Amino acid sequence: MDSSAWDARYSSVEHPWGSAPAAALSARFAELTPGRAVDLGCGDGRHARWLADSGWTVDAVDFSSVAIELATSGGADGSIRYSVADARTWEPSGPVDLVAIGFLHLPVDELVAVIAGAATWLAPGGRLLYLGHALENFTRGVGGPPDPSILPDIDDLARAASGLRVRELSHLVRPQGDGHAIDILLHAQPWSGSPHRSLMDGVRE
Ligand SMILES: C[S@@+](CC[C@H](N)C(=O)[O-])C[C@H]1O[C@@H](n2cnc3c(N)ncnc32)[C@H](O)[C@@H]1O
Repeated sequence: MDSSAWDARYSSVEHPWGSAPAAALSARFAELTPGRAVDLGCGDGRHARWLADSGWTVDAVDFSSVAIELATSGGADGSIRYSVADARTWEPSGPVDLVAIGFLHLPVDELVAVIAGAATWLAPGGRLLYLGHALENFTRGVGGPPDPSILPDIDDLARAASGLRVRELSHLVRPQGDGHAIDILLHAQPWSGSPHRSLMDGVRE
């Protein structure tokens, strides 16, 4: 979908994804120390707002100008800087402590490139969280995009996380209507320090 199709969607439905954050993301955000965050494909800002309310400063980016207008319509939050920009080319001005990407769906190789690129923005100790609809949702789940070419599988997110320390890479099943939706989560961070000694701390050989 191009940005005008997203604009039309945001113009026709209020809060198409609800105003509460996705629980799988907010639970993980809550474990982190607030710092600088990027919300890529932020939509009308439910995750950016949650992060700002929790003490983060947030760069929130979406290529739908209608989504960004909606995100800012309740008044400016000084902790959030919204930008209308394409997630495939936008970059932050410096290192960040968290990149959050919720339900951004692109042709899978493009999504892999966006996630891998976003990981290079992370400061030491920073975290990358991607949550989206899984490929399996197309055949086994309900809701989500009816196009398998934009739905990532575990292998795709493993490619995106190549070179990172992967904390979680899994399917998450959640109730939706009469059925279940199948999401996919990647939680990763850069490897830190110079390796062997610190990794082996506390481990007996
Ligand atoms: C399903 S919505 C999710 C919005 C938000 N992350 C959330 O979870 O509430 C997907 C969002 O990705 C945005 N998007 C899709 N492709 C994009 C791109 N290439 N660059 C920036 N935003 C994009 C859409 O405009 C839309 O707001």
